[in-house]
Amino acid sequence: MRLEPLISERRIRSRVADIAERIDSDYRGEPLSLVVVLKGAYVFAADLVRRIEMPCTVDFVTATSYGRATRSSGRVTIRGIDRLEVVGRRVLVIEDILDTGLTGAAIFEQLAPCKPADIMFCTLLRKPGAISRELPVLYAGFDIPNDFVVGYGMDYAERYRNLRDIRRLIFDSRDAEPEADKASDRLP
Ligand code: IMP
Repeated sequence: MRLEPLISERRIRSRVADIAERIDSDYRGEPLSLVVVLKGAYVFAADLVRRIEMPCTVDFVTATSYGRATRSSGRVTIRGIDRLEVVGRRVLVIEDILDTGLTGAAIFEQLAPCKPADIMFCTLLRKPGAISRELPVLYAGFDIPNDFVVGYGMDYAERYRNLRDIRRLIFDSRDAEPEADKASDRLP
């Protein structure tokens, strides 16, 4: 297994600033609630929030679907939505990656009964598979190929979240790529 650079720190910084500027202009004067999806989006959200100038609230939900695998298990568990106070507010869900879109769809379904004014999505990365799900994505930082990526908050089996840039995780032919729910302890 090895890591290959994909998106530099400088490109991330500049894109995050663009998105924040657009949020300020699109939501100005409205009650905005940011709902950050942990764990992967925490670094992106921390940078984004500090660039947004308008008043907004920030809350966190936790989503689990991958475990120690590089493919979604298809079972998404969301925690923390019941604690949100978003009645009448405009909600912007902050995600790290839209891959299959299953996580986003589950969040949408569970948030809708909380009666927000509307629910939109902001994702740092979007993989091609996400396009098939009809989520209202207002902001997507980068469209990337169908590779597994790590860094800038994103992990593989809880590693690499602390990288400042985003890298592709390349599996060599001798690596047995773990399937969902089948853990591998061989990390680079
Ligand atoms: P989805 O439900 O398939 O859209 O997957 C969304 C979640 O899976 C993301 O929020 C990430 O936490 C995780 N994920 C998807 N692709 C990757 C990846 O390439 N690297 C790290 N995590 C990923």
